Formats: sequence, C-alpha cells, structure tokens
Amino acid sequence: MINMDTIIVLDFGGQYCHLIARRVRELGAYSEILPFDIDINKLKKIAPKGIILSGGPSSVYKEGSPQLSDEFYTYISEEKIPVLGICYGLHLLIHQLGGSIEAHDEKEYGKTELEIIEPDLLLYSLNEREIVWMSHGDQVKKMPIGFKTLAKTSTCPIAAYANEEQLIFGVQFHPEVAHTPKGNVILDNFISKIADAKKEWKLENWIQQEIEQIKNEIGPTNKAILGLSGGVDSSVVAVLLHRAIGDRLHSIFVNNGVLRKNEEIEVQETFRENLRFKNFHYIDAEDLFLEKLRGVEDPEEKRKIIGHTFIKVFEEKTIELEKAYPNIKYLAQGTIYPDRVETSATSNASAKIKSHHNLTLPDDMMLKIIEPLRDLYKDEVRKIGIQLGIPKGLIIRHPFPGPGLAVRIIGTIDKERLEILREADMILLAEIKKAGIYESLWQAFCVFLPLKTVGIMGDFRTYDYICAIRIVESKDAMTANFAKLDWNLLERIGTRIINEVKGINRVVYDISNKPPSTIEFE
Ligand code: XMP
Repeated sequence: MINMDTIIVLDFGGQYCHLIARRVRELGAYSEILPFDIDINKLKKIAPKGIILSGGPSSVYKEGSPQLSDEFYTYISEEKIPVLGICYGLHLLIHQLGGSIEAHDEKEYGKTELEIIEPDLLLYSLNEREIVWMSHGDQVKKMPIGFKTLAKTSTCPIAAYANEEQLIFGVQFHPEVAHTPKGNVILDNFISKIADAKKEWKLENWIQQEIEQIKNEIGPTNKAILGLSGGVDSSVVAVLLHRAIGDRLHSIFVNNGVLRKNEEIEVQETFRENLRFKNFHYIDAEDLFLEKLRGVEDPEEKRKIIGHTFIKVFEEKTIELEKAYPNIKYLAQGTIYPDRVETSATSNASAKIKSHHNLTLPDDMMLKIIEPLRDLYKDEVRKIGIQLGIPKGLIIRHPFPGPGLAVRIIGTIDKERLEILREADMILLAEIKKAGIYESLWQAFCVFLPLKTVGIMGDFRTYDYICAIRIVESKDAMTANFAKLDWNLLERIGTRIINEVKGINRVVYDISNKPPSTIEFE
C-alpha cells in the first residue's frame, strides 16, 4: 500500500476503468482500482480521500447486477467521503439511494453537446456548453431528495448531478476519455475541490521511497534473484534493486534460443558494461529449448514448453546460486499494475478480455516475492527507467513476447527458420528506425510463414518461403490498428528482405486490426 492521499476507483466492469485511474494519476493524485465488492475493512485501511465508481456493462435494475453494500453507504456517510459515479456508477447511486433508472429509447453513443445548468464544484470553470462522450442506454428518471441536476443533453435531462450535503456526484458521460475534451477539468475538480486530495504522486519521490523500502525489506545481508529478459519491466526492476542492494542482486538472463538477432549480446553489454552489474548470470540454453520445441506446431504447446523449460533452467540456476551465495531469500519480478489487475480481474464484473502471459514460479521455491512495479502503469515504468539512467534504446523497445520468435514462426521451429526470421526482422527494424517512426509504433516485426511460393530472381525461378510483416499502432495491446505506412517505405523493406535474406522470395503486409485478429500470428 502506498502511503499518500488516494482516490479509489471501484471497478464495475467498465472498459475505461483503468483509464480513470490513469487520468487521476496524470493529474498528480495517487489512484488505485479495487473491486466494487471490496471488503469494507480494507477500504477503511486505505482511508481514501475520494471514491470514483466506474462505468459497467450492466443495468442497475437487472437481477445480479453489481451493487454496493449497505456498509459502503454507511462508511461514506460517516466518514464524509466524496463519491463520483460515472455512467453505471451514476445510475447505481440513484438506484440505491431511492431514485429510479430507466432504459431510454434513444440510446446515446458518441460525442454529444452538454448544456450546463449549474456548474457547482464538479463542473466548475466549464463553459455553458461542452462536448462530452456518451455511451449508455439507461437514464436517470427520478432523483432522490437532496440531489440537483447540474447538466443535461438534448436527449438526457439529467446528465450530471450533485448532492452537496452527502458529497455524492455523478456524470452520465465519460470524463476519462479523450473525446471529452474538458474531462480532465471535471476529474481535477473532483480531486482538488471536492475530495481535497493532495497531489503527491510524483515519480521522483516514488523512486526514492521505493529504493528505501526495498533496502528495508531485504535487509543488510540478504540477497535477491531476478529473471531478466531485457524487456522494459524486468530491466527497470533490475536497476531499482541494484540501486537498493547493489551486487547482492543476482540477475539471470536465459537465452531460450528464440531471441532476436544479437539480443543476448546487447542485453549482456547493457547490464554488465553500461550498468555495471557484477552478478549477471548468462545461461545459454538454446540447444535445450530447441530440442524440446522440435516438431511442435501448436502455439499453446510452444508456449507451455518454453514456459516450463524456462522455469526448469531458472530453478536449476537458483539452486546453484543458493549454494554458492548464502542468503538468497527474495525473488524479484517485473509485474506491473495492468498484469495484476488482468490476472486477478479486480472484480467478477470485469470482462476477461486478455489471458495473462507472464510466468509464475512454483511455490516450493521458498523465496519471498518482491514486485516493486506492482502499482505502476507501463508509461510510468518507462519514465522511471529513464530517470534511473537506463539507456533510452532499451526503454523505448517494443514489447517482445516471452515465447519470442517461436510464436512468429508458424509451424515447426528449426535453426534455419530462425536464422531467416532473424535476418528479415533485423532489416525491418533498421528501416523503421531509420524512418524515425519506431517510437510511434506499438510493435513492428516479421513472421515466418512456412509456405513456399514461386518467384523469379535474375534468370532463375525460385521456390521459397513467405515473410509477413506485422506493424501495429496501439495504446495497451487490447486493441490495435495496422499501421498505414508510406508505400515507399514498405517497398524498401520488402525489396531489402527479398534481396538480402536467403530463403524468402515474397513479402506480404498484414492489414488486419485487433480485434478480430490478434497482434501476434500465434
Ligand atoms: P496478442 O497477440 O494477444 O498480443 O494480440 C497482445 C500483446 O501481448 C504480447 N504477447 C505475449 N507476451 N507472452 C508474452 O509475454 C506471450 O505468450 C504473448 N503472446 C502475445 C504481444 O506481443 C502483444 O504485445
């Protein structure tokens, strides 16, 4: 738990729940997401300065829809904790406090003009008319005593309300999305003017606090191990721990045989040479992984094999290190906030959209888990990484899946296919970086398709494999659009791959969006 003024977001299953917490943090106040049915004693411990109820897919009057407990209402009224309901949250407060909600014939989706009747504190400093983003089918029909209307739209007579005495507020639209241009002003009014929360969420303070906390937790003699992949999250954890306990951190980097070209060399250079990690352990397990993967076609089977083999290799190394260096008591992990929220789904109400990919080690390893990034979002992790002096090239790296190139070679994996894919991928990345667009893309990579087609090179007919190029733009990988790149750039990439990579005579560009397609091919 973080010891500062906190705004809690209660999750009713809405797709924008994360966005609300992020916006609050961007505005400088600390925010966390909790399930709507959180044990009230846990909430009391946090003692939030304000509570935001998220939107959600249900209708409050439907049986089984998520509701707040009587204890919740007693708690907020006794402690005078301000509450802001958004969409479903707005309906729920009215529904449970004696008003009524109805399905409305004219559902409102998209941009709408909001007319402000009385700004009160919540809509303070907004113009008389503002554009907001609506997405709902239900409406407030009747408000309980003590509630007044703050704003309306042409089809929604109560689009925002306030109950000043009980400190209960609601907005029918979504202030957290970018389509509501003044959304941040509304959230800021709630944080500062209504909840009076101090804006203490600064990453520089966080770094210092966290390093002290890690030092205290691990103590003066214990040691920690960490599986370092060279990705952003594990790298930032590594540097934080290194700052806290120095070379009592043992990092283990496993070459699983499905890394990109030169990756094992670059990661070793960064940590051993640039960042001066003394106890950096490189394990070349390429042969073992490739042997286990031989003949395997099924993507999930590949993932399982890579996951299990990694754990086995990591465990063996840990046992060896435990013998050589006594007092290894901690296992550090690069879990970040969305990982946690997605794996354990903050509430039963949140729709499970993405299954979680990260590995967990067996319980019998008897190591205490330490997860310094557990409350952070990816962009916050990146900013911290920069402040910690991690080379920028590593911080801005695109996400790379744990099973690596194994899920980018369709069908079976062997050294020849890996070699082809590595060469093609290197050309793609070099051209993308040269064009100056690497940072604006979420991911850009090549995929090996085990299909041979006919081509012509010089006077000769060729019969070689296809390379697919996948380049996407995205904010969080939940949804993604294929990047509409300049044709000349795509042509240059395609030509170079066909000319320079032996075994490829055709390059295709993937124009699918997610959903319905996924980012990776497997
Ligand atoms: P998909 O393909 O599901 O990918 O649209 C979403 C994001 O997750 C990454 N990804 C993985 N990451 N292990 C990982 O660590 C995996 O098995 C895995 N599969 C997909 C993918 O690269 C994208 O960023």
